[in-house]
Amino acid sequence: MKPVFFIIISLLLLPLLASCSKQKVYIVYFGEHGGEKALHEIENSHHSYLLSVKETEEDARASLLYSYKHSINGFAAVLTEDEASKLSELEEVVSVWPSHPRKYTMHTTRSWEFVGISEEEEEGNYWTNNQMGGDFLSKARSGKNIIVGVLDSGVWPESKSFSDVGIGSIPKSWKGICQSGVGFNSSHCNRKLIGARYYLKGFEQYYGPLNASEDSRSPRDMDGHGTHTTSTVAGRIVPNASAIGGFALGSASGGAPLARVAVYKVCWAIPGASKAEGNTCFEEDMFAAMDDAIADGVDVLSISIGTTRPMNFTEDGIALGALHAAKKNIVVACSAGNSGPAPSTLSNPAPWIITVGASSLDRTFVSPVVLGNGLSIEGETVTPSKLEENKMYPLVYAGDVVNPGVAQNLTGQCLAGSLSPDKVKGKIVFCRRGAGMRVSKGMEVKRAGGVGFILGNSKANGVEISCDAHVLPATAMTYSNANRIMEYINSTKNPRATIIPARTVLNTKPAPYMTAFTSRGPSTIDPNILKPDITAPGLNILAAWTEADPPTKLSMDHRVAQYNIESGTSMSCPHIAAAAALLKAIHPTWSSAAIKSALMTTAGIRNNLDKLLNDESGNAATPFAYGAGHFRPTKAADPGLVYDASYKDYLLYFCSTGVKNFDPNFKCPRSPPTAINLNYPSIAIPKLNGTIKIKRTVTNVGDPKSVYFFTSKPPLGISVKASPSILFFDHVGQRKSFTVTVKARTEMLNENQLKDEYAFGWYTWTDGPHIVRSPIAVSL
Ligand SMILES: *[C@@H]1O[C@H](CO)[C@@H](O)[C@H](O)[C@H]1NC(C)=O
Ligand SMILES: *[C@@H]1O[C@H](CO)[C@@H](O)[C@H](O)[C@H]1NC(C)=O
Ligand SMILES: *[C@@H]1O[C@H](CO)[C@@H](O)[C@H](O)[C@H]1NC(C)=O
Ligand SMILES: *[C@@H]1O[C@H](CO)[C@@H](O)[C@H](O)[C@H]1NC(C)=O
Ligand SMILES: *[C@@H]1O[C@H](CO)[C@@H](O)[C@H](O)[C@H]1NC(C)=O
Ligand SMILES: *[C@@H]1O[C@H](CO)[C@@H](O)[C@H](O)[C@H]1NC(C)=O
Ligand SMILES: *[C@@H]1O[C@H](CO)[C@@H](O)[C@H](O)[C@H]1NC(C)=O
Repeated sequence: MKPVFFIIISLLLLPLLASCSKQKVYIVYFGEHGGEKALHEIENSHHSYLLSVKETEEDARASLLYSYKHSINGFAAVLTEDEASKLSELEEVVSVWPSHPRKYTMHTTRSWEFVGISEEEEEGNYWTNNQMGGDFLSKARSGKNIIVGVLDSGVWPESKSFSDVGIGSIPKSWKGICQSGVGFNSSHCNRKLIGARYYLKGFEQYYGPLNASEDSRSPRDMDGHGTHTTSTVAGRIVPNASAIGGFALGSASGGAPLARVAVYKVCWAIPGASKAEGNTCFEEDMFAAMDDAIADGVDVLSISIGTTRPMNFTEDGIALGALHAAKKNIVVACSAGNSGPAPSTLSNPAPWIITVGASSLDRTFVSPVVLGNGLSIEGETVTPSKLEENKMYPLVYAGDVVNPGVAQNLTGQCLAGSLSPDKVKGKIVFCRRGAGMRVSKGMEVKRAGGVGFILGNSKANGVEISCDAHVLPATAMTYSNANRIMEYINSTKNPRATIIPARTVLNTKPAPYMTAFTSRGPSTIDPNILKPDITAPGLNILAAWTEADPPTKLSMDHRVAQYNIESGTSMSCPHIAAAAALLKAIHPTWSSAAIKSALMTTAGIRNNLDKLLNDESGNAATPFAYGAGHFRPTKAADPGLVYDASYKDYLLYFCSTGVKNFDPNFKCPRSPPTAINLNYPSIAIPKLNGTIKIKRTVTNVGDPKSVYFFTSKPPLGISVKASPSILFFDHVGQRKSFTVTVKARTEMLNENQLKDEYAFGWYTWTDGPHIVRSPIAVSL
């Protein structure tokens, strides 16, 4: 018995021991492999690199997690710092970096009507009329020949959103697989869900073996996030879908309802943590998934995963994977992150990625609070349970009913265990946002015996309300309305209230506005590239859900939901991926840069009151929140001009940042163009020193014979001119270059004005029907 016992112990301790002796997973990266070598030769070469630093053949073999060999040339292995540093000195190595666990940020029906591409009749759409939307979808044949890959937490294949009824055979270009595992086999894939794979070697190296009661070793989604994002890109049109309680009732549909999807499960439940805390996704696992997805033949990749601290591009697996994808003209859309509203909080800033921010929809779920004095104060919720009609309940502020010992600054927060049941029983409790999860606060009020719950925004949340399906009657309100509740509580000895059940209201104004949570630029990695690129709906989005996780993700919640409402840049990213899929269907020969340019230069910067976009607090939003603006897919189908860029242009960009050995088939020129001259559809100039001349080239994709005129709205204190300022085209595909001269008008500025602060503007090329707009951000 003894030896067996010993072996089990040592296996369990392996990850711990590994971390004690300072062994970590490193990614050793050689860039593109050039394509001359057979797969097994590449694998052999990885093995010999490992052998060069490891003692024995066996050590080398055991340390290897992944050999990346399709497009990406590299491997992930358990190494000491010494071994890693030895490998990083080799000339052919682009970079070696330790893998960092990355939590993805958690971060519909209505969203597609909102941007005008629904087939359904719907009033009050303001971007375009729906006739045009239907036409757009039919031109794109709803994306039926396009394959979208999604890196996420897997998929719930039984969802009606992934039915393949009436969909034709799988595109011949598809080379992927349907990987079997726990609760998932080949019969779970179909002509809609054409591929499914999972990756967890990095996860298990860090945490030890997957706990089968926490997640499924298969592509099956036990979390909900992956099913939500996948169905937002390409879910079928499902009539009568709604969140529990009937909210947002209507046809649920992905943006490209006939596109095919392939899921790559790379995110897993964090051991011992509540699911509500999110999943974790390891870089070496994502890198393997991207290598496979590119080889499988996806056309678009949607990645709602990011980190709060982005790394340089040579140490950023998503950025590098996306560059390999760009070589094959695969469009990659990524979430900007949910770390707003502070500046420089953005993730996924590589110029070959479409970085997506999140804004609101024009749909609310109105659920007011009526106070004892007769005042009605607006709130919003998607909570299905209701209080007794026409009955008033005692109302208390959470800060006044806490158990002794709760820290002063946390008293109003309704954190777990903080409320005193004696003082809460039978009452409605008013809690503040700030610390802790929104849904957990509701759970705490319920635990303490409260009958209802009002969630008040903190100042930072402003007017943005993320709706939740709470476990007891509840509503949520803006910061100013929350203050009115507090004033009322303060004003009377016997505060009373009731919560009116929610109803769905459309066409609310203003919409869209930028959410507080959406991460802001400037990019900390390269401020010469304006990021994010674009915004799309990410607040209170309805999409398919797993049946293995309740809508709140709280373990005490036993409800099952087929559709659920979620908020985050995770939700906005798949909107852009879907729009890219439809554009690819309409323009199969366009490069990924052309598709991105079309989306960006046609984006809107006005809301449904015809005012410039605001943020959640009602202040003017800037391109560091919305990029080029809110996407308008029907306009993107006919952008007039595009700012194209090839894989080679991205390599030149890499040369300018000092990366010279990315692709063995490419040599950096002695003086590569500077980063700011990458042919990007927007302009960012950090620290303008006097005057700068920036080169851009546009390609005509509109009318063969056309004349475009330059106009600009320069940032405050800056002048923007183009040379030439008129562009003549006589055929489609014709390219014309121009120079933008950006100059600080020092006579208009005093010393400190604008120092380190950005000012914003834009320039456009227009031939009448087409307006090709590029945002500009400048700091002095
Ligand atoms: C796949 O799993 C289902 C149960 O979920 C089972 O009914 C079916 O027979 C399995 N198919 C194959 C090919 O193993
Ligand atoms: C697996 O997860 C369950 C549920 O979270 C937990 O109770 C159990 O202790 C875990 N097992 C191991 C071996 O960690
Ligand atoms: C939607 O649900 C309603 C009520 O449950 C029902 O009357 C209607 O027929 C359903 N419509 C469709 C298209 O299934
Ligand atoms: C990124 O690269 C720059 C310049 O090469 C370097 O100074 C910086 O330390 C790097 N940052 C990280 C986080 O590696
Ligand atoms: C509350 O105050 C403590 C110290 O007094 C601090 O560590 C903590 O971060 C504060 N929490 C919040 C949410 O402000
Ligand atoms: C309500 O009274 C408390 C003190 O009891 C005070 O801290 C708070 O600022 C008051 N709030 C409002 C909105 O009047
Ligand atoms: C700005 O430009 C001037 C003249 O071109 C040069 O002398 C100066 O060093 C520059 N300043 C910075 C901070 O680059």
